[in-house]
Formats: sequence, C-alpha cells, structure tokens
Amino acid sequence: MGDFSAQRSQQIRKRLDELLPESNSGISSVHEAMRYACLGEGKMVRPTLCLLVHEAAGNPNPALCLDAACAVEMVHCSSLILDDLPSMDDANLRRGQNTTHRQFGVDTAILASVGLLNLAFKVVASCKEGSADARLQIITILNSAIGSDGLIAGQEIDLALFKENEPATDIDTVNWLKTGILFASAAEIGSVAAGASPDVRQAVHRFAGHIGGAFQTIDDLIDKTESVAITGKDANKDDGKTTLVRSAGINQSKLAARRQIEQAFDELSKCNMDSTAIEAYVGKMFSRYIDD
Ligand code: IPE
Ligand code: IPE
Ligand code: MG
Ligand code: MG
Ligand code: MG
Repeated sequence: MGDFSAQRSQQIRKRLDELLPESNSGISSVHEAMRYACLGEGKMVRPTLCLLVHEAAGNPNPALCLDAACAVEMVHCSSLILDDLPSMDDANLRRGQNTTHRQFGVDTAILASVGLLNLAFKVVASCKEGSADARLQIITILNSAIGSDGLIAGQEIDLALFKENEPATDIDTVNWLKTGILFASAAEIGSVAAGASPDVRQAVHRFAGHIGGAFQTIDDLIDKTESVAITGKDANKDDGKTTLVRSAGINQSKLAARRQIEQAFDELSKCNMDSTAIEAYVGKMFSRYIDD
C-alpha cells in the first residue's frame, strides 16, 4: 500500500516488538508464540486506522495512541490464533507462515492467545501518556468490542454458517460482530486518544464499522478468488459456508463493499477533520478488489 502506510506499519511493529515479552524459550514457548502471532507480515489495518484518525484529529497524544493501536493489534492477533484452531476454521497458513498452533501446538497457541488478550489491556492501563479517564475509555471500548456480545458472538455465529439446517443468519450482522466492531473500535480509540467530542467519536465509529463490513466481504471474496501467494492463507476455507459471496455472487459482493465504503466516507465527512490521508489509505486498501 505504498510508503505512507508502510511507515505506519513499521512504527506499530517496532512498538509491538518493545511491548511484547521477550522469548524465553528455555522456560516456555508462550512468549515466543505471542511474538510469532503478532510480528509476522500482518497488514496492520486496524492499528493504522487508529493512528490515522488520531493524526487527523490533531495528533495530541501520539504515545498513548500508538500503545492503544498496539493493544488493538494484540487483540486482533489473539482472535486470529483462535480463529485458526482445528476446532474453529482449522487453518494451516496465516501471513505466509504456519498458523500459531501448527508452529507451537494447540496448547501453547491457546495460552498465547489469552496472553495477548491480557497484555493488550495492561499496555493501555500502564501507558504514561494521556489522562486516566482517556485510558479507561479506551479499555472500555476495546473490552466491549471483543466481548461475548461482540467479536466472540460473531465468531460463534460464524461457525453456524457452515451448517445447512441452521436458521438463516443476517450476514451483515455476523460481519459486523466478528470484524466491523473491532475496526469501529480501533478508529474510535484514535479519536478518544485525541479527546474528540462524542459526536465525532460516534461518526468515526460508524465510519470504520462500514469499512470493517466491506473488509470482511472482500476477505470472503479473496478466499475464493486469490492465490495463496497473495493472501498468505489457505485458499477456499469458506467452502460450504454462507457468505455474501456465496449467496449473491462476486459482482454483487463487490457492489455491496462499494456501497459500504461510500457509507463510510459519508460518515467520515461528518467528523470535521482533514480526512485526506484516511481516505487515501482506505482507497488503497480496497483498490485491487473493487476498482473496475
Ligand atoms: C483477517 O484480518 C481476519 C479478518 C477479519 C478477515 P486481516 O486481513 O487484517 O489479517 P492480517 O492482520 O493482515 O494478517
Ligand atoms: C475472521 O474471519 C474474523 C476474526 C478473526 C474475528 P475469517 O475466518 O474469514 O478470517 P481469515 O480469512 O481466517 O483471516
Ligand atoms: Mg473464521
Ligand atoms: Mg478464518
Ligand atoms: Mg476469511
């Protein structure tokens, strides 16, 4: 996605490297597995959105925002470890390398996932920059996004999409819960770190929620259409699962993603900030898949 986002990714990866515990392989593999799951070639989309929103809002607390962005990425990586487990999506490949459980075993992978989740909240709680109130708000937003009414619920419903006789589930709802909500929270956290007003926070939340919905739709498309060399993940993992791509087809899915991106930009325009960089980033994120 060019130098601009590469610079943000590098910044996030460097800070993650500092925040993650050192590998202590003589004693246990959990720390090594936590580092492995976080420091691979991830796109860093959620933490980058967090940083870009904060920058657009004046960049007043860059250290707080960077640590909060890293916490979001830790939570995301924790969810990917679980998502890949044999009892979930049973995936072998992630970011072009073995999934965490293929590399370290299921037992260590589960512990590493819990370790990352735990560390994420400590990172925000103990950040030296920003008010205690801002840190508490960030923790609360992140916590509710991934809770059993959020991402966890989305992942549970997602598994039911493989079952033929399950009652029909609204795909938008599943995509919102398993993916949109963490995008929305990442961006909102950037605005909270900047001390934005409740109106701006809510608009930012809606903006990134739409982006997350489009992102999952495109991810489902990529599962069918892209090579392993491009995705770094197992291909055709969603075969037999109800997704928009399966029920509406490739073209309709692209249209749906385009509509969501339009809705997202509409929300962004209500935020009263210079959103040029955010729009450029989002445009590049999707251009390969939705541009004609
Ligand atoms: C994968 O997210 C999970 C989905 C919500 C589709 P990403 O596509 O952001 O994965 P990484 O972090 O770049 O590996
Ligand atoms: C994953 O959706 C969503 C979460 C991890 C919460 P997918 O199962 O489609 O993600 P990939 O394709 O494995 O990255
Ligand atoms: Mg999944
Ligand atoms: Mg998966
Ligand atoms: Mg997928």
